[in-house]
This record gives sequence, C-alpha cells and structure tokens, in this order.
Amino acid sequence: MNKRDSLKLLAGSLLSGAGIFSGCGGGSSSTTSDTTPATPTTPSAGSNTLWIPPLLSGSTAAGVTTYGLTLAASSVQFQTGAKTATYGYNGNDFWGPTLLMKKGATVRMQVTNALSEDTTTHWHGMLVPGPVDGGPHQVVAAGSTWLTDSFTVKNNAATYWYHPHMHQMTQKQLTLGAGGFIIVQDDAESALKLPRTYGTDDIPLILTSRRFTTTNGVANQFQYTLTAYGDYVLTNGVMDAQVTLPKQLVRLRILNGEIERDYNLGFSDGRSFYVIGNDGGLLGSPVAVTRLIMSPGERYEILVNLSGDALGTVLDLNAYNGADSGLSFGYAGLEPATQGEFGSLLNYKTFRLLRINVIAATTNAVTTVPTTLVSNTFPSASDAIKSRTLLITATGPGAPFTFNNVGFSMTTINQLVALGTTESWTVNGGNIFSHSFHIHGVQFKIVARNGSASAVKAYEGGWKDTFYVPINETVTFVARFDEAADSSYPFMYHCHMVNHEDLGLMGQFVVQ
Ligand code: C2O
Ligand code: CU
Repeated sequence: MNKRDSLKLLAGSLLSGAGIFSGCGGGSSSTTSDTTPATPTTPSAGSNTLWIPPLLSGSTAAGVTTYGLTLAASSVQFQTGAKTATYGYNGNDFWGPTLLMKKGATVRMQVTNALSEDTTTHWHGMLVPGPVDGGPHQVVAAGSTWLTDSFTVKNNAATYWYHPHMHQMTQKQLTLGAGGFIIVQDDAESALKLPRTYGTDDIPLILTSRRFTTTNGVANQFQYTLTAYGDYVLTNGVMDAQVTLPKQLVRLRILNGEIERDYNLGFSDGRSFYVIGNDGGLLGSPVAVTRLIMSPGERYEILVNLSGDALGTVLDLNAYNGADSGLSFGYAGLEPATQGEFGSLLNYKTFRLLRINVIAATTNAVTTVPTTLVSNTFPSASDAIKSRTLLITATGPGAPFTFNNVGFSMTTINQLVALGTTESWTVNGGNIFSHSFHIHGVQFKIVARNGSASAVKAYEGGWKDTFYVPINETVTFVARFDEAADSSYPFMYHCHMVNHEDLGLMGQFVVQ
C-alpha cells in the first residue's frame, strides 16, 4: 500500500468520526460553498500524516521524455460536514505529482484540462522559451490537451514548481490545490554527499493555508476582496501534519505556496539549520541560520541535522510571525486582526507548519553537512547593458497594486529585452506593503538590497527567480536573458502574492 492509499484510509476513518482534520482524502461528494468564514475548532498537534506527492519520471520514446498531467476537480474531507471542493493533477485530490527530470534531458509536457473552466500550466523557474512557458496566453481550454514542443532541461539541480497562470484565475485555481513540484537533478548535485532519498530523507514541503466557509468551501479562492490569508495551515495539502524523519541529516525542499503570507521559518528548539539551495540551484556552501524568511513562490532547500536527537524527539517546524519576531508592518501576516480581508487566525503569532518525530536512522545515512556545494558563475552588474526600475504603486491600502502605475493588460507589452543580453532590474516595493517579485524566463542573482550588496542575505546569494521585497525597500538583480519570447507568448514579471497578481501587479516582456 502506498502512502497515498494509507492516507485515504486515514481520511476514511476520520470520516467515521474518529477525528476531524485531515487532508488529501479520496473520493468525491457534492460540495457547496458560501462566502462566510467558518470558525472550526483548533486541531490537536500533529494528528495527520504528511502526504508525499508521488514522483513522475515521464515516459521516454525516441529520446524525448514526456510528462503527462491531467488537472481535474476533486474534493477533500478537511473538516466535519461537507467535503471541500479542490483541484489536483493526475488523480490527486490536492496538488500533483513531483516531476523528476535531469539537466540536459530532452523533455516535453502534456497537460490535459479536465476542468470545466480554462487553465494554463506554468513551469515556475524553468528556463524555457515563451511558447513552452505556460503563461496567461497559453490557454488550455476546458476539455483540451496542450502538448509543448520538446526542450532541453537547462536548469541546475533544484526545486521548481508548476501551477496555473490564467489571468484573474490564478488565485482561485492555486487556492483549490492546482500545483506540483519539479525536481531537477544534475551531475554536480549528484556528486555531493547529500540526502536524496525522496520521501525518506529528502522531503518536499509546500506550505500554505486556507480559510473555510461555514459549508466548508474554501473562502480564499475568490479574488482578493474576501481574504488574503488562510486560517488553517496546509502542509502538502494536509491540515496539522506530522512526519517521521530518520535520525540523520534530512533535506527539506520548501516552497512558500501561500496566497500572500510570508513565513519566518525556524525550529521549536531554536536549532540552526543549513540553507543549501535557492530557487534555481545549490549555493557555493551551506549557510547556517536559525530563521529564514520566505515570500510566496520562493523555494529554499535546507538541511536539518537530526543525528544528535534522541529517538522519539518531537520537533516542530514553525512560522515565527508573531510580536516577538522583530518583523514590522508590511511583512505579510503580521496584521493582528483574526478575521476579515486582512485578518487570520494565524496572523501575528507563532504557528506550527509541521511536527517532526525522530525515528531510527536509515542504512547509509548522511550525518554531516558538507562544507562546500557547487561553484556558480553569476552574471555581474558590470555586464548589464541596461537598467530598469519597477516601482510598485497603489492609490491606497486595498486598492489594486500596479508596476509604474500601469495595471496588467493582456495586449500591452511593457518591456522589450534583447536576447542574449544582461540587464539590471531594480524593484521598489513602494510605501503600502511588501511583495514577492517573480520573473519568467531567467534565473538571476540578487546584487543589492537598498543599494547595498552587503544587505543581501547570505542565504539568498544563489540563483533566484523570486524574492521578498519589503515595504519601502528596493531589490536589485542582474539577469542574462537567454530564452526567447515574442508578443504572442511573452514572459511575465509579477508579484507572486497571487491576489496582487490577479488584480494587475503583473507586466509582460518580450526577449528577441
Ligand atoms: Cu509561479 Cu508567473 O509564476
Ligand atoms: Cu504584491
């Protein structure tokens, strides 16, 4: 029996009244939703087993590996009463399989849309040309299939992800569960002594939260106006998740999959952990931290050393988003209200994301953190032939954000970039709130925060495609634009707080 089946059994027993909170259960039932927030009771600690998405290696013919995805509607018994309507890929009730690919391989994607509404599928962080990128113009109509051209995997070993990118539908479809991980492997990563047994000492974690309505619909699927924040954590789609991890070095591939909330990650005993990878590759060497800020869309790979822990140790991965965090207004999730548009039961507090129970080590366990990782050659500011500045603006709190006072339009190309050139872009967060900036078609290097190279945190010093932009601060990055995109399938840059994105904090650019 695989993990997914055991989880379905668990969900089944919960249905019969043994418990309330679960996630990723199977089956279908009629679901209803309204827009009134529910006030469920607080779940007990670690009562549900973490779901590990199945791996999908694709099928290879004539040297091309094809990854088949089908997005369909489903439902999950998150709470007592009605099931919650959800979306998932390949028969999963929430989220989708983890695509496993190798750098240098020739691959293509095949996406079938079994929903009754249009979608797109974007390969977040992947270095692919415009027509493969899956942005808002690449609509996969309800009932149809999109087969991409084949492409060579150019990305470094790291954790990427896929998700819908239909303009003004991204928040809804992502909130309902549409998304999945992509793990790229390469020779440099394989040569290192790192944990890489998927589901055992190498764990993907998508962190998000949802608010439920009185009839157990998901409230925050609606554009912006109802709620930016969930009230209940979903870790890999599971409410109140726990996992058993072996007494050795463990690798967590973490994605902030939130609508808007930032996470200030840390462990309940205050231990140091080691950041080894950013969005688009491994760092030069591990960076020890006790806290790690992640904004929506970002991925970090970390190592946690459990080899000194006694069997049976219980450790929590927490979000330290409370009054004692040292964080200040603009960071998403500090607003103290417990309900309403910008409130949440999780706001302005420390809350658990995953309970870890330490079990016996595996054979051939990795127990020491490597001192060096890979050598990276980044584009530098002196290579940049052009600088651009994007100022995030709004007429006031609650009003739609825009870049340089221009809201997103499907028919406007906002920037023209010359193929094969290097540019320096500065994003100014503006004076209303923080944001999470993401750009398609490149992996870049953050070179300055507020104009200062030393203000860039060591843990964000690698290849990035998404970053945290605090209120009233600037972030400067340098990128070399080697993927082509014309005006029929342009690339996007946008805020990855998908409520902001859907309301217009997005722009388009061509590279040619
Ligand atoms: Cu994760 Cu433009 O997207
Ligand atoms: Cu934003």
